[in-house]
Amino acid sequence: MTEKDLKALLSDMSLKEKIGQLTQLDASCFSEEEGPVTGAETELGFSAEDFPYAGSILGVVGAEQIEKLQKKCMEKQPHHIPVLFMADIINGYRTVFPIPLALGCSFEPKEAKEVGDVMAKESAAAGLHVTFAPMVDLVRDARWGRVMESTGEDPYLNAQMAAAMVQGIQGEAADYDSHLGACTKHFAAYGAPTAGREYNTVELSERTLREDYLPSYQAAIDAGSAMVMTSFNTLDRIPATANQWLMKDVLREEMGFQGVLISDWNAIGELITNGVAEGKKEAARQAIQAGTDMDMMSGCYMSQLENLVQEGTISEDSIDTAVLRVLELKNKMGLFENPYRSAGTDSEEKNILTEENREAARKVAADTMVLLENKDHFLPLKKEEKVAFIGPYAEEKRMLGAWSFFANPEDTVTCREALEEKTENGVFAKGCGILNPGQTVYGFRFNMTNEDSEEDTEKMIQEAAEEAAKCEKAVLFLGESCLQSGEGGSRGDITIPEVQKKLLRAVAQANPNLAVVVLAGRPLDIREIKEHAKAIVYAWFPGTEGGHAIADILYGDRNPQARLAMSLPWCVSQVPVFYGEFPTGRHVEDGEQIENRFLSRYTDMPNQPLYPFGYGLSYTEYSYGEVQADKQEFSAGESVQVWTTVKNTGNREGTETVQLYITDECGSVARPLRELKGFQKVTLKPGEEKKVCFTIEESMLRFYRADMKFAAEPGTFTVRIGADSRTENRVKIYLK
Ligand code: IFM
Repeated sequence: MTEKDLKALLSDMSLKEKIGQLTQLDASCFSEEEGPVTGAETELGFSAEDFPYAGSILGVVGAEQIEKLQKKCMEKQPHHIPVLFMADIINGYRTVFPIPLALGCSFEPKEAKEVGDVMAKESAAAGLHVTFAPMVDLVRDARWGRVMESTGEDPYLNAQMAAAMVQGIQGEAADYDSHLGACTKHFAAYGAPTAGREYNTVELSERTLREDYLPSYQAAIDAGSAMVMTSFNTLDRIPATANQWLMKDVLREEMGFQGVLISDWNAIGELITNGVAEGKKEAARQAIQAGTDMDMMSGCYMSQLENLVQEGTISEDSIDTAVLRVLELKNKMGLFENPYRSAGTDSEEKNILTEENREAARKVAADTMVLLENKDHFLPLKKEEKVAFIGPYAEEKRMLGAWSFFANPEDTVTCREALEEKTENGVFAKGCGILNPGQTVYGFRFNMTNEDSEEDTEKMIQEAAEEAAKCEKAVLFLGESCLQSGEGGSRGDITIPEVQKKLLRAVAQANPNLAVVVLAGRPLDIREIKEHAKAIVYAWFPGTEGGHAIADILYGDRNPQARLAMSLPWCVSQVPVFYGEFPTGRHVEDGEQIENRFLSRYTDMPNQPLYPFGYGLSYTEYSYGEVQADKQEFSAGESVQVWTTVKNTGNREGTETVQLYITDECGSVARPLRELKGFQKVTLKPGEEKKVCFTIEESMLRFYRADMKFAAEPGTFTVRIGADSRTENRVKIYLK
């Protein structure tokens, strides 16, 4: 349709129809055979008769189901406008890739793009139009369950990953037919809930918001994200969904977002419980006036906007602006020409869970697993060694992450299946459940309970320890349950469940030649694991091909190359703990013996995390040469080349992630102790050396100054290039 046709359509629509386009309803409002169902109307505040007016439906998947529902709704919609189908496809539809936090650890935007591409193609075949992804919220508090959906703690890395995900999801030149629209979320700063408690208040300075939190959303918008979702949280005490400054001045005016802005689930209704609106009518008014185009599942728009227009509180023009954005998106996706696009059972068969997709998932998963320890080259394992593989994750299929609703856990390759392909010398024992005996964790579509009794668990632990004692080495597969992270998965204790600690102690005592593979949706406090294990692989939730990827790493068929995208805290009391913190007036390094009480440190634990951002080992070793610069001084408009050499000093090929950090030594406001400004992955054969060069420009040194201008200030900058955020390999340069 041309823009003119769209506008003609708009002007022919009744007000009720228009408001329908601004309404998103959930799958529960529709049945496959009958279309709209009755019953939900009391909660939503409008009649089920009006359900087919909904412009968008979320949570229905499958080409056949979507086709049927699309037909039913289009028949009933007065202008036969197609429905926009959306769902949460976060790290895969049927072929599940590692969780986004793991993907961050790949430091490989190309892989993020590939993940987006595969998941979009699978979902488009299954009839979907838009995914509620990527989630690009910066995260620094491991208590928050949704850290698993982000790519981590760093603004620069997050921005690279956000852009790549959008490009992957939407396809080259937004080739929507075989791809999806991206809905970047959650705008803004949802990743900073106070004390890590889900949906909690966000208190950030405007400087921190702009400097640390906005860059990833900006990158996603610049990459063309079709939609943005508002966040549940308040920002400066105003809920994002009703925050005119945030949505109009910042998102639309400054950041240039032109697509559709949708609320999060019932976020408009929650303006009432947030205490800023006295009822649904006022909630609807605030949201539409803030520029929230679409209402996800509160019913406030459908039940209230018509009255608000009729009484003159809001103008029909403001409704039209929002509706036109929705129609434009449907038009861009080609829905007016073909509401089913390339979806169909044939297409599902051709695109979903293919060998090629599985191969991609296996490779990406291996590239996201962080080798944290490897004493005495304990790993890789040798095929002839007799190894006891123990633990609740040794045979667990649910290692897909909390959002993989549409995947079938049965498709997952378990660690045991994959390890048996590698060696005949493995023995297996479960040891215990993931959760403590009797413990239940509630999920969205299923719950998890450990039904083992205490006595049975004791026996299982003992048997596992006996198996470990008979072998040359033991490998434990431990971690949190996939329902302990994700939305509503905040935790105050971020260690593995107690029962697994008992198993760890028993196995370590029986056989100290022990490696541990950790499966988790967040950085856990793994001090006790570190105490007992010679090697630790942090495997996150690795997805459908997780078992293969873990076995590839354990047996050295792939050399670990991932780096932590989020610091692993020493313990929960440290969080939020992140590498880019600010200098204080009373700085002290961990371990420094200074006889002075009045310093910025804990008296009973270190300041530094257990493993810092950017950290990760390989089966080979690298050495770095000195950092050099082609000039010591430069002006805006010029650039400085900085470089180092990296040599593979070990005896196998490996890929090193070379990281560039810059410190602004003195500014009009306190500047972070260091900031990641670039990274490069270099693959080196044994003995091979490469020069790795970065270009520094004045634009990379800009920040929000005391006067809130975004600009660099003259002065000295320390440039560090190294293997992680603690590197001290550096040179100084001066901006005139
Ligand atoms: O996309 C999600 C969002 O991240 C959290 N609330 C529900 C939405 C739709 O499922």
